[in-house]
Amino acid sequence: MKNGLEDVIAAETQLSDVDGEAGRLIIRGVSLDHLVRDSSYEAVAALLLDGLVERSFDEALLREWLASARIRVFNHAAAADAALLALPPVDVMRALIARLPDGDDFDTALSLLAAPAVFLPAVLRLRRGEDPIAPDPSLSHAADILRMLTGEKPTLEQVAALDTYLVTISDHGLNASTFASRVIASTKAGLTSSVLAALSALKGPLHGGAPGPVLDMLDAVGTPENADGWIRDALDRGERLMGFGHRIYRVRDPRADALKGALAPLIASGQVNGARGALAEAVETAVLAALTTRKPDRPLDVNVEFYTALLLEALGFPREAFTGVFAIGRTVGWLAHAREQALEGRLIRPRSVYIGPLPTAA
Ligand code: ACO
Repeated sequence: MKNGLEDVIAAETQLSDVDGEAGRLIIRGVSLDHLVRDSSYEAVAALLLDGLVERSFDEALLREWLASARIRVFNHAAAADAALLALPPVDVMRALIARLPDGDDFDTALSLLAAPAVFLPAVLRLRRGEDPIAPDPSLSHAADILRMLTGEKPTLEQVAALDTYLVTISDHGLNASTFASRVIASTKAGLTSSVLAALSALKGPLHGGAPGPVLDMLDAVGTPENADGWIRDALDRGERLMGFGHRIYRVRDPRADALKGALAPLIASGQVNGARGALAEAVETAVLAALTTRKPDRPLDVNVEFYTALLLEALGFPREAFTGVFAIGRTVGWLAHAREQALEGRLIRPRSVYIGPLPTAA
C-alpha cells in the first residue's frame, strides 16, 4: 500500500501534467509560462472545457456566457443569512453552491464557474455589513470580481494580477480536490456534487488553506532580520512552514514565479508597499537554507501558496478569503476533470487492507 497514494496513477487525463522533477506545468499542451504571458482566464477556461461539454465556443463566447451566468447566480447570494455569515467565507460559499441545481449539462457547469466568483465578494461585503454589488457583464471575470469586492473600478495592474492568478491555478494534475471531484463524477452524481466535494477538500491547510497562515507567519516574523531565528525556532518546535513543500515538486513550484511576476507591476507602480515583498524574500531565503540543512534527502522548496498570499493581500482580499479565491480559479479544473471522468472513466472504487481484529470463534 502507498501511504497517501504517493506515485499511484489513478487517472488518465488530457487536461494537465505536473512534472515535479523539472518544475513544469502543462495545461492542454501549453506550458504555464506561455499561458500566463498570452492567455486570459476566459481563454484558459475555454481551453480546459473544450470538447468536454455539449457546446463549442471560443474565448469571446465563453466570456459572454460566463458574464450572463454571473448575473444568473447573483440572487442566490441573498440566501446568506446572519447564521451562515458567522461561518468562514469558504464555508458560506459551499452552503450557497449547495443550493444550486445538480446536473451534467453545460448550463450547470457555467453556473458553477460563475458562482464562486460572485458569492465570495458578496459574502465578504455582507460580513462587513455592506450590500452585495451586482455583476457587470461588460467586464472580464477578473475585473468584475475586484469591482464586486470593492465597488470601485480596479486598475489595469490589479486586473492583470488577478487574471494571472486565476490562469496560474486553473488546473494542476490529480491534486486532492481534483481527485475528490473525479471520485464524485465517477458515481455520475452531477457537477454540483463534484464541485462541493472538491471545495471541501481544498479548504484543508495542507492544500488550499495554506496562504492565510503564510501571512500569519510573515506577521510573526515581523522584519527580515528576524527571519533566520524565527524559522529555526519554528522548525525546532516541529512546525510545518506554510507555503513550502509539495507532494510532486522536488524543485521550485513554477506557479510561485508566475505569481511573483504578477505582483511586480503592482509594486513598481506604487500600488503595493514593497516592504512585504522584501520580508517574504528574507523568509523564503531563511526557510530554504534551514530546510536544505535539516532535510537533505527531501528537497523542499516554495510552493504556489507562498506568493498567492502576497498577491491576494495586495489585491485587497482579507486572508480568511484566500481559499475562496483559490476556489474561484480552480473550479474550471474541477469541472473539466469531472466531465472527463464522467465521459471516459469508470466508477472509482479502490480497496483497503483490513488490519482490524478477526471475529472470535463462538
Ligand atoms: N515545513 C517543514 N517540514 C516539511 C514541510 C514544511 N512545509 N513540508 C514537508 N516537510 C517535511 C515533513 O515534516 C516530513 O518530514 P519527516 O519525514 O521528517 O516527517 C517530510 O518533509 C515529508 O513530508 P510529507 O508530509 O511526507 O510530504 P507530503 O508530500 O505528504 O506533503 C505538503 C506535502 C502537505 C504540501 C507538505 O509539504 C506541507 O505540509 N506543506 C505546508 C502546507 C502547504 O504549504 N500546503 C500547500 C501545498 S500547495 C497546494 O496544495 C495548492
